[in-house]
Amino acid sequence: MQLTPLHIKGGRPLSGTVAAQHSKNAALPVIVASLLSSEKVTLHGIPRLSDVVTILDLMHHLGTQHVWVGENSLELHTPEILHNDAPYALVSKMRASFIVLGAILARTGQATVSMPGGCAWGPRPVDQHVKALRALGAEITEDGGNFDARRTQALNGTFAFELLTVGGTHNAILASVLGDGVVTLENASIDTDVVDMIEFLNALGADIQGAGTNTLVIRGVSALRGGAYTVIPDRIEAGTFMIMAAATRSRVQLTNIRPDHLQAVSAKLRDMGVDVQEHDTTITVDARNRELQPVNITTQSYPGFPTDLQPQMSALLATVPGTSVVQDPVYPDRLTHVAELHRMGANITVSGYTQVIQGAKLHAAPVKAADLRAGAALIIAALTTEGETVIDGVQYLNRGYERLSERLRGLGVDVQQSELALAMD
Ligand code: EPU
Repeated sequence: MQLTPLHIKGGRPLSGTVAAQHSKNAALPVIVASLLSSEKVTLHGIPRLSDVVTILDLMHHLGTQHVWVGENSLELHTPEILHNDAPYALVSKMRASFIVLGAILARTGQATVSMPGGCAWGPRPVDQHVKALRALGAEITEDGGNFDARRTQALNGTFAFELLTVGGTHNAILASVLGDGVVTLENASIDTDVVDMIEFLNALGADIQGAGTNTLVIRGVSALRGGAYTVIPDRIEAGTFMIMAAATRSRVQLTNIRPDHLQAVSAKLRDMGVDVQEHDTTITVDARNRELQPVNITTQSYPGFPTDLQPQMSALLATVPGTSVVQDPVYPDRLTHVAELHRMGANITVSGYTQVIQGAKLHAAPVKAADLRAGAALIIAALTTEGETVIDGVQYLNRGYERLSERLRGLGVDVQQSELALAMD
């Protein structure tokens, strides 16, 4: 869908309070995990995003009935899996949908899921997903751009991931929850989004031990019951607002926060000279009258500095006098923001996954987002300039930021865009 561009007039501080949405990257796997139960599941804290619409389209194809029972509450019911395939047309829209492989395999014993392909910032392999399922006893073949997975008995045994993968860990857990096997996953992801899906599954009667550690033990159960669950707050969205506050030298309060999920971001902003105060469920970021310092950042899997905030942080550092070095080994090609920031006067030199950033005063320019977090980075850059920046590619922002222009306006931002009316039924 082509959407009207965002028009942002920057150069003035933000103020006020904004409530973080619930987590996109936790909500998507929790929605998929509901496939493992034949009973009704009610999920609260589901952000109204285009990625959620995409996964619901896929779930509808598989046999899930859904109904929104509140602004952010969703009832899901999959009495049976009607189709055990996930075609390319649906998977190619959103790479995260690949984890339906494990869920369909667990529920029916056979799943055909299209290879997800690359994304705007390069290849995103799924070899670990496939190796894990094979090592645990599934038979997987590749044919015509599809993975076909089969099992004749419950998955069983031990698999050690060769690297930390959020989606790979999700997929292996989903495939192992039902049946009479015992699965041990070593070097599993400890990401907040993995922990959230485990807590959801355990609330429905799954037996998964070790959430938040690198070793997970999944004892199969015969069936999951229905239930209700609330998804965690979105640490990436919250981090985006924190970086925005720093970039505009403002004081902003964030509510609906898990400060423990944002330790790496808070620490880096403090290193730059920003005052970050944490409370139980709120964070206050105060950068008023501060001379911010350049910093070096290397992304890592959780609890390290998140790759999903790398473009936003690069935009902030592009405005901070001095030299900063930002490295993103997690996604080495996640650099689509750089050429657009150059158009706004940024001084960024790229070598491999390293950006050497010399702080400069940015100016307004027409720019285009090529992916979600690059779009957020361009907003941050726009907020620091005096003129009007026109940001195209807004459809990417709607994948991950709920009612963004309305919420920016709530912080005092001069932003114009016809709000997206998402088809949410
Ligand atoms: N990797 C492999 N082989 C695999 C799987 C992953 O080599 O089989 C590599 C990747 O290439 C990457 C690293 O492992 O270098 C981590 O990838 P991971 O599997 O953890 O990423 P993901 O599950 O595909 C999720 C988020 C991303 C986020 C990454 C990293 C969702 C829907 N997506 O992706 O979020 O960047 O974790 O934290 O949860 C976003 O929200 O903007 C976004 C892209």
